[in-house]
Amino acid sequence: MRFVSFAIQCRRLNVKRGSNHILHDLDLDIPQGVIMGLLGPSGSGKTTLMRSIVGLQRIESGEISVLGRPAAGKALRHEIGYSTQSASVYSDLTCIQNIEFFAALYQKNEKSPAQILEEVDLSRNAHQMASSLSGGERARLALATTLVGSPQLLILDEPTVGLDPVLRLQLWRLFNSLAEQGKTLLVSSHVMDEADSCHQLILLRNGEVLAQGTPAELRTRTGESRMDDVFISLIGEQ
Ligand SMILES: Nc1ncnc2c1ncn2[C@@H]1O[C@H](COP(=O)(O)OP(=O)(O)OP(=O)(O)O)[C@@H](O)[C@H]1O
Ligand SMILES: [Mg+2]
Repeated sequence: MRFVSFAIQCRRLNVKRGSNHILHDLDLDIPQGVIMGLLGPSGSGKTTLMRSIVGLQRIESGEISVLGRPAAGKALRHEIGYSTQSASVYSDLTCIQNIEFFAALYQKNEKSPAQILEEVDLSRNAHQMASSLSGGERARLALATTLVGSPQLLILDEPTVGLDPVLRLQLWRLFNSLAEQGKTLLVSSHVMDEADSCHQLILLRNGEVLAQGTPAELRTRTGESRMDDVFISLIGEQ
């Protein structure tokens, strides 16, 4: 049997926000070193789940373990890179200054700000103000800020939203190269055509895991080829 270690595990996770019960007895296993797509309609609980994993969300009950430790622990802070849904970079700083700002929060950095910009192919833009970046460059700068401190786990909430297909592809190539370095990526999207860029998928609906598997497994299970149809078919199974 192959030994799989998990980057993230959730057991019977329940989360309420305000008076709404958002996540219901959610169980989840995310192996290390994979790109896990988190798909689901708007309001299904993707951001809430990500916030819970990062340790920013009060949970009602259940357990979350991240890299073998209970979520929200102090030791995990430097192991997780989190990019929020409306990813923010500082418009009034240059690219390199944005990275330097985040790097200043760490005592030690494996990589220099210049190396991090290189990794997302923004070396040429290092001294350009973030306010003047194109949409794709801005998305890559936001990704770069999560790479500061060389975290093992990247939680990226709709990192490709608003980008054209070419730029999305470019960003997905970057995600792949990060996974090849052994990092685990949890990437949310509600664009179904991004599903095939993921090693595995979690389909979330109304705060429950509708299905988890590789794109091929989910196709076989449903007999559908288009990911939209796979999703609709899985809803029908419920
Ligand atoms: N503070 C709050 N009080 C009450 N309900 C909330 C609160 N914050 C979020 N919600 C609700 O929780 C549900 C899940 O929200 P969440 O942001 O996790 O969804 P999502 O899957 O990320 O959606 P999207 O694809 O639109 O980003 C939504 O119905 C939302 O309205
Ligand atoms: Mg969201």
